[in-house]
Amino acid sequence: KNIVLLGAPVEEGAGRLGCAMGPAALRLAGIQPALEKLGHTVEDRGNLAPENLSGFTLPGLARNAALIGGWTRTLDRAAYETLKDGRMPIFLGGDHSLSMGTVAGAARHAEEQGRKLFVLWMDAHADFNTPVTSPSGNMHGMSVAFFCGVDGFSGILPDDRPVVAPEHVFMCGIRSIDLDERAELTKAGVNVFDMRSIDEHGIVALMKRIIETVSGADGLLHVSFDTDFLDPDIAPGTGTIVRGGGTYREAHVAMEMLYDSGLVTSLDIVELNPFLDDRGKSAYLLVELVSSLFGQKIF
Ligand code: ARG
Ligand code: MN
Ligand code: MN
Ligand code: MN
Repeated sequence: KNIVLLGAPVEEGAGRLGCAMGPAALRLAGIQPALEKLGHTVEDRGNLAPENLSGFTLPGLARNAALIGGWTRTLDRAAYETLKDGRMPIFLGGDHSLSMGTVAGAARHAEEQGRKLFVLWMDAHADFNTPVTSPSGNMHGMSVAFFCGVDGFSGILPDDRPVVAPEHVFMCGIRSIDLDERAELTKAGVNVFDMRSIDEHGIVALMKRIIETVSGADGLLHVSFDTDFLDPDIAPGTGTIVRGGGTYREAHVAMEMLYDSGLVTSLDIVELNPFLDDRGKSAYLLVELVSSLFGQKIF
């Protein structure tokens, strides 16, 4: 594959700082040589910078809306152009607000191809708040609502962009949802596979179902991987940990199955906060998981 690494050192969508160091930590943990070892061509384009949207605000509680809006515009364009160029973008985060832009751009590209974009959201959180429902005002908790076209975000992107159908979004690993967020998720009809459903059915059965749905619809698949999908024992380097998360083996087999499916066309690695990490442990694990997603095999 022709892979492009794009750093998105945004941290103002989160409640605490540190995610801006995420791209540097992923590079230091060896993401580029790991992918090259698997036979891919990898071009690291360095870090992006946000468009200037100063003065922009949203009604309700949305901290740093102008900055996050500026990042969204930059990342929308970067995702769209990289995909249009026939390359596979990997976005190195940065907090999860960056997916507002990456998914919007990927959806625009899919639409142009006459294909549907599906999103696999691997996360402890649903990130389905709006500036009206959010208890924190942190925009990393709003990305999915944004790209599903829920009201409350107008003006972030200049025109009406294609949005992702909520029924084309699959959430996996969820174990923390806010009260009003829950109501919005149910109303929208997002597919939520919470930790209980992983416990009951196993991650393999869930991944099979997701992969079959996407391939049956000839869809393109964007994977958005939040570090806090993982159990905090194995990935402490993230700002909003919730215990009882995905295990080392669950995460790996999910990545291996995604590789085998051949469906993944774009990827975000987000919410790594090196300031909170334990000697690079989480960064190294993320690089291992990316390797599995790109063809690393045990045997
Ligand atoms: N639901 C909480 C909020 O809206 C936490 C969101 C955490 N999101 C994340 N991408 N880590 O503030
Ligand atoms: Mn998230
Ligand atoms: Mn999360
Ligand atoms: Mn459909």
